[in-house]
Amino acid sequence: MHNHPIKPGRVALVTGGASGIGFGIAQVLMEAGLQVIVTDVRADHMERAQQALGTMAGRATFVPLDVSDRGQWGAARRLVEERFGDLHVLCLNAGVGVLGSMLESSDADWNWIMSVNLDGALLGVETFLPHLLAHGQPAHIVATSSMGGLVVANDGGIYSTAKFGVVALMEGLRRDLRGQNVSVSILCPAAVNTNIFDHERMRPATFGKNAQDEDELERMEAFAKTVLAQGRDPLEVGKMVKAGIEADETYIFTDQNVMQTLVRRRDALLAFT
Ligand code: NAI
Repeated sequence: MHNHPIKPGRVALVTGGASGIGFGIAQVLMEAGLQVIVTDVRADHMERAQQALGTMAGRATFVPLDVSDRGQWGAARRLVEERFGDLHVLCLNAGVGVLGSMLESSDADWNWIMSVNLDGALLGVETFLPHLLAHGQPAHIVATSSMGGLVVANDGGIYSTAKFGVVALMEGLRRDLRGQNVSVSILCPAAVNTNIFDHERMRPATFGKNAQDEDELERMEAFAKTVLAQGRDPLEVGKMVKAGIEADETYIFTDQNVMQTLVRRRDALLAFT
């Protein structure tokens, strides 16, 4: 059995940890007895999450961290080392969705999606991998990609460009780390009931605005919200992530139905002559 790091007293850090899937993962790790550093870019999400934790809040430390900012990653590492010593579980979960076709996209859309979804994961690895290797204890990195990291949905071009990148980065890292104390899993969720439909409202002004007109944007958000409401509970996904770390799975899927989609992609690739 893989020597996994999910043990009481160990330390985890989750990005985008104050809402949705990240908060689900954080709660499950706290229940397992870990100290969890919950990081997020949104102060309001962190406040709400802290209240929702109730008595479990003693296992959580809330720290602001914008994953697209290298300087903030450095500060997070110093905080971990000074206050906690060693980190054992790193969940690179923060990510944002953009609505609309690539044909109507702007540079701002690309910058935002790539810098949060792909650079955010890469900066996390660059910042913490040397630390995880240096302490030598069992450690695990989980990156949240998406089913969009394996197949491209309608209007999913920008998002998938980043999320395919996360899959490649993490598959490569898992190979490079064979035989070391650190392993890697890739979470590829299908629909999960979170706040992801609302991401256009969370976009920082530095990353511009979506080019779609307001009515079209509202229509797309309402549709996304309806689809996600049928999706999985983030706490359930948190439990799947814990099991995936314990079993040292390369991929963690949340939904059996997606296998047909993967088979269709495989068949399309093999049909090339
Ligand atoms: P969510 O909106 O509920 O949670 C995402 C959190 O990330 C929010 O608290 C937000 O403030 C934070 N965040 C946004 N930009 C950030 C930044 N620059 N730095 C740090 N934190 C930032 O959404 P959800 O669905 O829980 O998203 C988590 C991850 O799951 C994302 O990577 C997303 O792409 C992925 N995902 C979600 C699916 C779904 O159906 N909800 C399906 C597949 C993947």
